[in-house]
Amino acid sequence: MITNFQRSDEYRAKIHDLIPGGAHTYSKGDDQFPLLSPAAISHGKGAHVWDVDGNKFLDCSMGLTSVTLGHAYEPVLQRVREELEKGVNFQRPSYIEKEMAERFLAVVPGHDMIKFAKNGSTVTTAAVKLARAYTGRKLVAFPGDHPFYSYDDWFIGKTACDLGVPEEISALSVTYKGDDLASLTALFEKYPGQIACVISEPEKNFGLPDGYLRKAIDLAHKNGALYIADEMITGYKSAFPGSMTKFGVLPDMATWGKSIANGFSFCALTGIKEVMELGGIRATGKEKVFLTSTTHGGETHNIGAAIATLDVYQQQDVIGHTHKLGDTLIAKCKEAIAKHHLSDHIQVADCNWMPVFLFRDRQKELSPGLRTLVLQEMIKNGVLFQGVFIPTFSHTAEDIAFFTAAFDESLKVYIQALDSGYDKYLKGEPTKPVFRKFI
Ligand SMILES: Cc1ncc(COP(=O)(O)O)c(C=O)c1O
Repeated sequence: MITNFQRSDEYRAKIHDLIPGGAHTYSKGDDQFPLLSPAAISHGKGAHVWDVDGNKFLDCSMGLTSVTLGHAYEPVLQRVREELEKGVNFQRPSYIEKEMAERFLAVVPGHDMIKFAKNGSTVTTAAVKLARAYTGRKLVAFPGDHPFYSYDDWFIGKTACDLGVPEEISALSVTYKGDDLASLTALFEKYPGQIACVISEPEKNFGLPDGYLRKAIDLAHKNGALYIADEMITGYKSAFPGSMTKFGVLPDMATWGKSIANGFSFCALTGIKEVMELGGIRATGKEKVFLTSTTHGGETHNIGAAIATLDVYQQQDVIGHTHKLGDTLIAKCKEAIAKHHLSDHIQVADCNWMPVFLFRDRQKELSPGLRTLVLQEMIKNGVLFQGVFIPTFSHTAEDIAFFTAAFDESLKVYIQALDSGYDKYLKGEPTKPVFRKFI
């Protein structure tokens, strides 16, 4: 039973004086975790992390889904070390930029060109810019009920947390209901000839209506807009390289990040030549699009990490391994839920690449308090859990058994909390939404 968070408490007490939000991703912040939780991690190896108090946890989020082979994964580290020894940034491109471009484009069917960056937001924003330049239109469409596409104004301006974004900018983004063709159709009817692109994750954890993706892409094209598949989360998880191959579709552009370099900072925009070439410098006399241009976009050790990660995915059945673990975890957790008669209150998505859990109260409403209580109990039982599980190549069948045993223990407290209130069992406050108007 893990209960000592003394150093974490000291960290929590100081960090907000130094770093606004106390972290560099809002979803890593203190308001996203129960009070009885690690505030900072000292190191990770494989599927485990250790906090500043020396507590060991089975990791479920794996670096916000970016670490799909495992923490400090040796074959990736080896390649990174090699690149570090040779220097990481030069006046002209490193030769491995070409190797990475060729290797990655070879696995993304139908896409001809690629541009690298360090963050996902950089490439989603670059895709939006290219679409606007290509179509000569201003509006960008995305599902308003999906969680995140960029920290840039075109996305943040449409969230509850829009302070600092001029309304003129927010007005250039329009939203529809995710994975709902009727809603997307209505949007195109409302803004005829004005939408430059649709950007969307190709699939979420609760599945897609039959043939949805192909129909959505056709609909965008019929209306003169481009379609951008944001594979930031699905990439290297739902399939290899991502959902566009799983569903056999060809979006005009796709954006990649997170797992493509096993947690190292390497992201990419891929697309068809006709669109991507707008960011080029070959078409003399043609107006130039200032596509991404960053000092660190070609940093060699991160590209090395991406190449080594690609090697592992191409040589071993990472996807088969992770999906099998995901299937087992879902089946075992459903068994535990049924055993405790909680099927009306806890839902596990049938999504073997990223099982997600929903927690409901007696009225069957989603309950942040009960959810936080489960996080607290899982952490006590040695599982650093935030409501989703990312199976990685380092997780084992034993890890899944460890998770499900902790889950079973947590459900015993859940039952009591359903009847007598979560606040009797939860120390501190429930977690809060990242995108909220007020702190
Ligand atoms: C679907 C999606 N797109 C884009 C991003 C932005 O990526 P980054 O945090 O690397 O800027 C995220 C990050 O969570 C994401 O989930």
